[in-house]
Amino acid sequence: SARVRIHHLQQAKERGEKWAMLTAYDTYSAQIFEEAGIPVMLVGDSGGNVVMGLNSTVPVTLEDILFMTRAVTRSTKRALIVADLPFGSYEAGPQQAFASAVRLMKDGGAQAVKLEGGVRVAPQIRLLHDSGIPVMAHIGFTPQSEHALGGFRVQGRGAGAEQLLADAHAVQEAGAFAVVLEMVPAEIAGQVTKELSIPTIGIGAGADCDAQVLVWPDMAGLNGGRVPKFVKKYADLRGELLRAAREYADEVRGGVFPGPEHSFE
Ligand code: KIV
Ligand code: NA
Repeated sequence: SARVRIHHLQQAKERGEKWAMLTAYDTYSAQIFEEAGIPVMLVGDSGGNVVMGLNSTVPVTLEDILFMTRAVTRSTKRALIVADLPFGSYEAGPQQAFASAVRLMKDGGAQAVKLEGGVRVAPQIRLLHDSGIPVMAHIGFTPQSEHALGGFRVQGRGAGAEQLLADAHAVQEAGAFAVVLEMVPAEIAGQVTKELSIPTIGIGAGADCDAQVLVWPDMAGLNGGRVPKFVKKYADLRGELLRAAREYADEVRGGVFPGPEHSFE
């Protein structure tokens, strides 16, 4: 069947139907999530952390995102594929954002792009929207700005609530089709979700958002380090892969593998 489209996400909000987004960076993960019926996949700059071995999203380049986006778009037919605009590829202004987004769509095959920021990037969102490029916004805690925000902190508390609401309305007004709310109090996220006509996608933003997103190696237990409070682990892939790698190595050392059934006469 055809790709999920942004009007389907709008219809889901109007019907009160929630949906789940996952990140994807490569062919097998994308194939598996498509088979699971995940309607929207994000080629996130979190790939910097979980694929590239970086400890921040700041160094991730447009070329890095393109490499992962091509793998994901080649491996899916149905999910809507959103590609992250990395740090430094859109902040200088609408023209820079346009040039970067065009690459993600023409060279990467993405159907939409995501960028971080609210009021501050409204001109970028407006030009992309007016040019026919669907834009997902991302407000609250925005990892590309971790140095300016003073680390991984909940946003929108106390006086920050007003800024969060202003950002949410600014991105909708500028033409975003959806907005990610990261690490904001559940009550504020619920208020934003009620006030906006576009879908909200929460990560560490409580149960009242229209949709949720998680970084897949976190939710699948592939990450061996600490994961944020908002992550639920749905599997222990790290344990399973560790077991498989050890068993394989043991069998090679013990002369058990390969057996005759794995050999040619
Ligand atoms: O890069 C990413 O994975 C993201 C999600 C956490 C929203 O931006
Ligand atoms: Na991101």
